[in-house]
Amino acid sequence: MPNKPVIRPAALRLAAAKVPTPFYLYDAEVIRARYTALREALPEGWRLFYAAKANPNVAVLEVYRALGAVAECASAGEMLACLKAGFKGSGMALSGPVKGEQELAVIKKNPPYMIHAETETELAALNALGKKLNVALRLNLDLHLAHESAGRIMTGGRDKFGFSPEDAERIVAERGKYKNLAITGFHIYMGTQVRTPQTWLKGGEGFVRHVAEVCRKYSFHPIYLNFGGGLGIPYKSGDVEFDLARFKSGLAKLDRLIAREIGNVRCHIEPGRYLMGPAGVYVTKVVALKKMRGTNFALTDGGIHHALLPFRVSREFPAVLVRGRGGRKERYVIGGPLCTTLDQSDLPLELPRLAVGDVIAILNSGAYGYGTGMHFFLSHPLPAEVLADGKKLFIIRDASLSGHLFRYQVKRKI
Ligand SMILES: Cc1ncc(COP(=O)(O)O)c(C=O)c1O
Repeated sequence: MPNKPVIRPAALRLAAAKVPTPFYLYDAEVIRARYTALREALPEGWRLFYAAKANPNVAVLEVYRALGAVAECASAGEMLACLKAGFKGSGMALSGPVKGEQELAVIKKNPPYMIHAETETELAALNALGKKLNVALRLNLDLHLAHESAGRIMTGGRDKFGFSPEDAERIVAERGKYKNLAITGFHIYMGTQVRTPQTWLKGGEGFVRHVAEVCRKYSFHPIYLNFGGGLGIPYKSGDVEFDLARFKSGLAKLDRLIAREIGNVRCHIEPGRYLMGPAGVYVTKVVALKKMRGTNFALTDGGIHHALLPFRVSREFPAVLVRGRGGRKERYVIGGPLCTTLDQSDLPLELPRLAVGDVIAILNSGAYGYGTGMHFFLSHPLPAEVLADGKKLFIIRDASLSGHLFRYQVKRKI
């Protein structure tokens, strides 16, 4: 079942009547409702960031800015998009395993609210910028979260992220050596698509207990803690909603633990998928139908070149009929135009009987949709992005038939 609230059917129908497929549609009202509901679940004083990687379209970022979100960025490009959307440096946090020359240049001009550092090389480079910068250490802790509802855990294993506990301790002990950096506290990113509050909160508690121990050992008083994002959304039939009421009461308990174990520290979370996923759909048209060895195939003008994760994160993504006669439900494997078996739904989806020309929408595609598409693979067009706000629709990125394919192709002697 898709999360509530979901994109408004009237906006979807209107967009499908006005915009050629394939396209993305985002609903500003859903963005606002989800952000506000999650913010209300947080204990007093906690701040809700938006992970811009989920959807860095400037018009989408503008909606989050108006809500008072800090944008969590993971590249210079995302920071530039946020600046275009009206965020100041102080309205952004910067994460990512590599902060290269481009990131350092943007940081220098626009010192962020917080930088989540992951290597000592990075700390030295930030210190050398000669600016006063706020830096939190991203930790890579083994929090023993593996569980069937845990999604993709990104801490404690062999993933490249963050500081090992030993390195982080040493940096805390030697924190005075970075004259330009205020080491403010700690960051963690437990993983993505964590579908139950229990798993997320268990990780949060492990993080707090670890931080408390390090702080006691080194007489360090953090002012910043960031628990990352990772809140899941339902994709497959049978997946349940992330239980916000349970999350709220669990966070209140976690907040009391923090007060006891660490003291007065500002806490943050930075989800992307939970906030933005259900606020967007990917809309595509059925261009052909066929049946093979008992399987119904619906071939569409959209696919993984525009929407890799919505197609691949679940082998059975939620889809609805937007325009068509409908009828009795049938099961279809949805396949796009690319010459790879990755470009199909694998498991058949249940949809009202389809005809050529029908338009379907893949739900929960607002996060990690456009940005994860394999835009150049097989040289197909790129989709438009559309924002619905109230009764109005805005094109927020033009479609491209072929311009994007040749834009940077040159043959210049060097
Ligand atoms: C550091 C960091 N923060 C936040 C996020 C957002 O995660 P999610 O969309 O799962 O909430 C990510 C995603 O990869 C991340 O790497």
